[in-house]
Amino acid sequence: MDKIVLREVFLKNGELLILRKSTEDDAQAMIDYLNHVGGESDNLLFGKDEFPLTVDQEIEFIKRVNNDHNTLMLLGVINDSIVSIAQISCHKRKRISHNSEIAISVIKHYWRIGIGSAVMEELIHFANNNSNIKNISLGVKASNVNAIKLYEKLGFVKVGYHKDYIKINGVYDDLILMDKYLDK
Ligand SMILES: CC(C)(COP(=O)(O)OP(=O)(O)OC[C@H]1O[C@@H](n2cnc3c(N)ncnc32)[C@H](O)[C@@H]1OP(=O)(O)O)[C@@H](O)C(=O)NCCC(=O)NCCS
Repeated sequence: MDKIVLREVFLKNGELLILRKSTEDDAQAMIDYLNHVGGESDNLLFGKDEFPLTVDQEIEFIKRVNNDHNTLMLLGVINDSIVSIAQISCHKRKRISHNSEIAISVIKHYWRIGIGSAVMEELIHFANNNSNIKNISLGVKASNVNAIKLYEKLGFVKVGYHKDYIKINGVYDDLILMDKYLDK
């Protein structure tokens, strides 16, 4: 199956990161990735083995996303292994469909060498080139200071928070809401 590569980036450690769209052939590896990455930090909304889709369901999801012009699901790949999955998608209702939302994860072994920045830049590039999208939003755990730094570096601002939105092992944390308003 043809792989649509959007960008190639040499990382701070010299390795080549390929940013590409997913194909149906990626379904199993994506499920494995998400079940693994959920257990690597407490910063995602799902934990280890909490990603419940079957391969067939994931294939349907990939097909749906790839046919949706207002959504980009981006895989970060190094040496044929998935090291990041991220997505930007718009609200479906017409009156709020110019608002998009981002979700991102990078595998822990590869943190701090520029993958998060490259992925976010590609998602923002997609938003800038999609005539429909005017705003980008995301939610981030209040204690996830590294992610907040990344988002602030890219022009996101804190606009509010949901108190005690997340509960992990009995401990609550707020969800900080951040927006980036595109100049168009
Ligand atoms: C947050 C996350 C996506 C960052 O990815 P990354 O590949 O490490 O990001 P980068 O290497 O591009 O770093 C981007 C910026 O984040 C900040 N940052 C990241 N890790 C940091 C750390 N350990 N200490 C200080 N700042 C840090 C810095 O501002 C950095 O920019 P700089 O290198 O120019 O100083 C990644 O840590 C991750 O997936 N974490 C787990 C899941 C998660 O938190 N997802 C976001 C949920 S909202």
